[in-house]
Amino acid sequence: MKRLCAIVISLFALSVAADVVPPGSKDQIRERLQPFGEVCRAGQGCAGTSSALATGGTATGGAAMSGDQVYDQFCKLCHATGISDAPMLGDVAGWTPRIEKGEAVLRDSIINGLGVMPPKGACMNCSDDELVAALEHMLTTVR
Ligand code: HEC
Repeated sequence: MKRLCAIVISLFALSVAADVVPPGSKDQIRERLQPFGEVCRAGQGCAGTSSALATGGTATGGAAMSGDQVYDQFCKLCHATGISDAPMLGDVAGWTPRIEKGEAVLRDSIINGLGVMPPKGACMNCSDDELVAALEHMLTTVR
């Protein structure tokens, strides 16, 4: 009788211990343990991430930005105001000597930076294509 009692008690203890395991399948548990918010870098094409603006104004891994979007977000700061002699949008006299250098030189200047202009015109996550699109956007105003 004593032994039976001990068995019943240990069975009871086991069932209590079993209840300590959180309910749900292993997958559900794993899901609950996921960190809150995942890091999504540009170029990864992470699903469900919203505009890069929310993470500090950088290009997303999603759709490429158009030339005027890149211009508005990054280049405009200097190229609409002429800071440190940045050639201004629509300023033919300012752009003519630049255009004479050839577009390949201008592209390199954007990618590597020039004088006060930081590399990539400060759009660190922009692809070369996006930077060239921004250049084209500016050049269409002076052609
Ligand atoms: C922080 C200010 C600043 C930002 C932001 C900036 N630029 Fe500039 N940019 C300048 C300045 C200043 C110059 C003139 C540099 C010089 O000649 O020393 C310049 C020159 C240029 C030139 C002429 C280069 C050459 O070889 O003559 C191009 C093209 C250009 N920028 C494109 C862009 C594009 C495209 C962007 C945005 C992606 C951009 N810039 C963002 C300040 C800026």
